Amino acid sequence: MIEDVIDKCPRLETERLVLRKCEPRDLDGFIRLNTDQKTHEFFRSQPSIEDCENGFQLGMQKQRKDGFGFAVMEDRESGSFLGFCGLEIPSYDVGPLPCEPCVEIGWRLLPEAWGKGITVEASQRWLRFGFETLKLDEVVAYTVVQNHRSRRVMEKLDMVHNPAEDFNFPGVAANHLLCRHVLYRLFKEKYLERKNG
Ligand SMILES: CC(C)(COP(=O)(O)OP(=O)(O)OC[C@H]1O[C@@H](n2cnc3c(N)ncnc32)[C@H](O)[C@@H]1OP(=O)(O)O)[C@@H](O)C(=O)NCCC(=O)NCCS
Repeated sequence: MIEDVIDKCPRLETERLVLRKCEPRDLDGFIRLNTDQKTHEFFRSQPSIEDCENGFQLGMQKQRKDGFGFAVMEDRESGSFLGFCGLEIPSYDVGPLPCEPCVEIGWRLLPEAWGKGITVEASQRWLRFGFETLKLDEVVAYTVVQNHRSRRVMEKLDMVHNPAEDFNFPGVAANHLLCRHVLYRLFKEKYLERKNG
C-alpha cells in the first residue's frame, strides 16, 4: 500500500494550517524548533546547530525514501513556519521499537503556538490521509511517560494506551529518567467509527 503513494505526499489544508512536505527552505525553522529548550524538555539532549542540520538532511532522505515523513505545519494566513506534524516510519540506529513495523504519527510545535489545538487539527488531517489514502490498518504514537502534553494530544485523537505495551527506549539506560515510553494505538475501525459518528 505504501509503495503505491511514493512521492505523493500531498499538500493539505485545514482551517488554520497548510501541511506540506519538508523543503530545504525549512532548515531555519527546523533549527529554531530544535534548539528551543521548552520544545526539548523531554528529549535526552539539546541538539547543536550541526546536529539540527544533520537531522534535517536525514529527515529529507527519509521523506524521499518513504514518500512521506514528518511534514511542515505552516500558518495558513501568514505562511510562517510553526513546526512539524505527520506520519513517519520509525527507524532508529539503536534498534527497533517493540511496535515495529508500524507507521507513527508525531509532532513538534514552536512554543508560541502551543495550547491552541493546532497539533490536533493537523493530526486529524494526517490520520485521514493515513487511513483513507495510504489505507493503513493502524497508526501508533509514543512518548516518554512524563510528556503529558503530547499524551493529551494522543487522547484527543482517540488513540488508546495499553500500559502492558509501555517500553524502554532502545539504547537508553533503564534507570534514565527518559527511558520509559508509553505507546498509543489507533486502529482503522475506531477511526472510521469516530468519523461516521
Ligand atoms: C506536544 C505538543 C505538540 C502539543 O501541541 P499543542 O498544539 O499545543 O497541543 P494542544 O493545543 O492540544 O494542547 C495540549 C493539551 O495538553 C494539555 N496540557 C498542557 N500542559 C499539560 C501538562 N503539563 N499536563 C497535562 N496536560 C497538559 C493542554 O491543556 C491541552 O489539552 P486540552 O486541550 O484538553 O486543554 C507541543 O506541546 C510540543 O511541541 N511539545 C514539545 C515537543 C514534543 O514533546 N513533541 C512530542 C514528542 S513525542
